[in-house]
Amino acid sequence: MKDKIEELDKKIAEAHLGGGEKRIQAQHAKNKLTARERVHFLLDEGSFEEIGMLVTHRSTNFGLDSQVVLGDGVVTGYGTIHGRLVYVFAQDFTVLGGSLAEAHAEKICKVMDLAMKNGAPVIGLNDSGGARIQEGVVSLGGYADIFYRNTKASGVIPQLSAIMGPCAGGAVYSPALTDFIMMVEKTSYMFVTGPNVVKTVTHEDVSSEDLGGASAHSVKSGVTHFTYANEIACINGLKRLLSYVPQNCEEDAPSVPYKSNGSEKREVLNTIIPENANQPYDIRDVINGVIDGDTFHEVHKDFAENIVVGFARLAGKSIGIVANQPAFLAGVLDINSSTKAARFVRFCDCFNIPLLVFEDVPGFLPGTDQEWNAIITNGAKLLYAFSEATVPRITVITRKAYGGAYDVMNSKHIGADMNYAWPSAEIAVMGAKGAAEIIFRKEIAEAEDSEAKLIEKEAAYAEMFANPYNAAARGYIDEVIKPEDTREKLIKAFKMLENKVDVLPKKKHGNIPL
Ligand code: HXC
Repeated sequence: MKDKIEELDKKIAEAHLGGGEKRIQAQHAKNKLTARERVHFLLDEGSFEEIGMLVTHRSTNFGLDSQVVLGDGVVTGYGTIHGRLVYVFAQDFTVLGGSLAEAHAEKICKVMDLAMKNGAPVIGLNDSGGARIQEGVVSLGGYADIFYRNTKASGVIPQLSAIMGPCAGGAVYSPALTDFIMMVEKTSYMFVTGPNVVKTVTHEDVSSEDLGGASAHSVKSGVTHFTYANEIACINGLKRLLSYVPQNCEEDAPSVPYKSNGSEKREVLNTIIPENANQPYDIRDVINGVIDGDTFHEVHKDFAENIVVGFARLAGKSIGIVANQPAFLAGVLDINSSTKAARFVRFCDCFNIPLLVFEDVPGFLPGTDQEWNAIITNGAKLLYAFSEATVPRITVITRKAYGGAYDVMNSKHIGADMNYAWPSAEIAVMGAKGAAEIIFRKEIAEAEDSEAKLIEKEAAYAEMFANPYNAAARGYIDEVIKPEDTREKLIKAFKMLENKVDVLPKKKHGNIPL
């Protein structure tokens, strides 16, 4: 038996070395951890149980028979994060560049299948050159097997993807099908085709960083939801994100014990809205003034900054926040902000996370760019996402709620449960000046002093509509509240909605305008 155990130990040691010392050193030299080190930092100490350590590929193509590495370039298994079960796969760039083929894909599919059957999140730590070129079509098949599972698992268990190296080709599509993507600055890249192919096809000269680095995807494409300065920060980000989400769609997110210190009043909220309605303010001040301590975990921070989305805790409970941002483009709704918010709303709804909306929106962004790039279809995504969400939903209108954007931003009419407005709310078809210019055009044009007439009519329109009271009189607003009372009202209302049951009509699935 001793010999047999020694043989096993030898194999384990061999598997732990992956592509070998030299390649491990090369990985470290690039400020990257190895797959095993990443798993070690991610999971609770000693909790990792590996599955498939001795799996190898079966290919003899192009000399692959002399490059057989135990584990086939991916470390898979399960463990816990803060005591909660998770499944994990970590691609090992030291083995054939973390490329994916038949055996490697089978290992990932195995943990995904276990995760589905046992209702726990899957975390993918991606570091892969894409389909293993030598293995040909079985690599493509392997990817498709994963994509299929990603899609089936969507909305059932949370799926999180960290990009921790160059991810090309198929290596980007699995993350794209998951719920959240995070990238590491300067060491992770995502592209369907790399700079060389780009140069050949479009003659564009572009670096990997510019084409698919963390900044390109956090600011320009919106593909990544989070970026981190280094891998450890990224791993900590994964853990923090997980703390706001449940294990699966049947469960609630974990809550933390909360004890009020006696008063939930937040006087500071009375001081945030500027006197002049055209002055910007940072909606994050409102968010942070309402939620528990510094629990706001912002998602998609650098993309479509005119809307702010993220997780937070209110009286210890996990909530999702969607808020117009008057400090950026006046908080207008456009294509990117609509799709950003729609995706977030749908994630929260999938996983039973109640939604809180702060609204201060002057309307949709006009212009040819928006129209020709389909603001109609994209704006409709947000309308659709809110309308079909069955989780508890509350809106607080802090200032402007104009035009179609009033309807879209979780209005009572599309199923919000409680709608509050601050006294500073202006709920109307459009701003007073624009409205006066249209409905009193003739009168203004014919007036001796047109400018004075416009000011007079603008004031009349503002007097009638630049307030929350018309909407409150109709019951579209349930209560006009003092800003300082917002936190207390929200705690009570979410508690009241705790057991909400709302079901969509029986259907195969809806047809969100994509
Ligand atoms: C096999 C691969 C590989 C791959 C990298 N390697 N990618 N082996 N298949 N796809 C190997 C390299 O040959 C090298 O082996 C080792 O991994 C490290 O790669 P380097 O190039 O030295 O590293 P680096 O300079 O950091 O560049 C990383 C890289 C580059 C950007 C990922 O390797 C690259 O461009 N690879 C090809 C990307 C690609 O075109 N993939 C196929 C996509 S098609 P040695 O032995 O020299 O160390 C696809 C289809 C699926 O994925 C579509 C589904 C929708």
